[in-house]
Amino acid sequence: MKALVLSGGSGTRLRPFSYSMPKQLIPVVNKPVLEHVLDNITALGVTDIGIIVGERADEIRDALGDGAQLGARLTYIHQDAPLGLAHCVRLARTFLGDDDFIMYLGDNMLPGGIKDIAARFTAERPAAQVVVHQVPDPRAFGVAELADDDTVVRLVEKPEHPGSDLALIGVYLFTPAIHEAVAAIEPSPRGELEITDAIQWLVTHGAEVKAARYTGYWKDTGRAQDVLECNRRLLAELTTHIAGDVDATSELIGPVVIGTGARIVRSRITGPVVIGAGTLIEDSHIGPDTSIGDNCVLRASRLVDSIVMNGASIVHIPGLTGSLIGRAATIGPSDHDQAHHRLVVGDHTHVEVAA
Ligand code: DAU
Repeated sequence: MKALVLSGGSGTRLRPFSYSMPKQLIPVVNKPVLEHVLDNITALGVTDIGIIVGERADEIRDALGDGAQLGARLTYIHQDAPLGLAHCVRLARTFLGDDDFIMYLGDNMLPGGIKDIAARFTAERPAAQVVVHQVPDPRAFGVAELADDDTVVRLVEKPEHPGSDLALIGVYLFTPAIHEAVAAIEPSPRGELEITDAIQWLVTHGAEVKAARYTGYWKDTGRAQDVLECNRRLLAELTTHIAGDVDATSELIGPVVIGTGARIVRSRITGPVVIGAGTLIEDSHIGPDTSIGDNCVLRASRLVDSIVMNGASIVHIPGLTGSLIGRAATIGPSDHDQAHHRLVVGDHTHVEVAA
């Protein structure tokens, strides 16, 4: 079995972050979403992994290299434009050969892993297996209609009037039968070759397509609030590990991870909190539900339920909550003017100030 991870696309819903980084590299508990994805795949014993990359290919290569550190062998496959999930399968034809494969969308988080899902496919080996999850409003997803034995009867991509409440999760298992299907379909009204249409083509042509029902936690990390929710969820399983220095006047409460070379000075950390290597926390109260990356500075600040990415600095900010702070961002008091706010804010940035 091989794997195909999709990490191209544009990610406009995650602006402004997607202007400066691929959305699949947004950190959740200080680890890029894409690494969480690869961990789930290697946990199956699948190590031969193709990665579809688009215009941000270089950053993904820089982050993952050849995959050796993750116990995988990565093959990068370039996609010139995000022409759809089925287009990715077409591009990967040579890499995939005639192997069965798991296709995994690089922005989907399933922290409970996918062992049961993969085991079911191996046991039954239908032509294709999708994974479905019950959601209150599935209109933003592919939607599956199933027979009593979980055979797929119909699949529709982002329907206005869904025929069920079963959303397609971004994990698919395929036999080589999918290649004929992706070659046969035409672009959808939104101009993409939809994998949903390719799987529907299999159904229409009499192939067996099954659905595995997934009841664990799943998140498509498409929007900032999804990333924060996912971060909270994973932090709930944190176990304490202290590698950095904590001075005698600081207090750690609950599960806390402190990276190598990090320093906690006159501060209170209320877990779950993870603090990256080389970060300084001084005269601050951090947590709960917060991840702070490497080489950040937090001074005289109070931060709750947030993600701070590498190299950011937050000084004299007493009440930050529910925030996503980008790499090397600086937030602090004005040197010259105590009466006004002064902002240098990038395109599509979202700022809420206390009234
Ligand atoms: O998250 C689950 C949903 O993912 C499913 O319910 C839908 O059926 C499926 O079409 C997909 O919908 P999205 O609109 O969320 O897909 P998105 O455009 O966000 O792309 C998913 C991932 O695939 C993302 O990591 C970017 C990557 N991608 C996407 C396209 C369109 C590529 O690598 N190349 C592409 O051409």
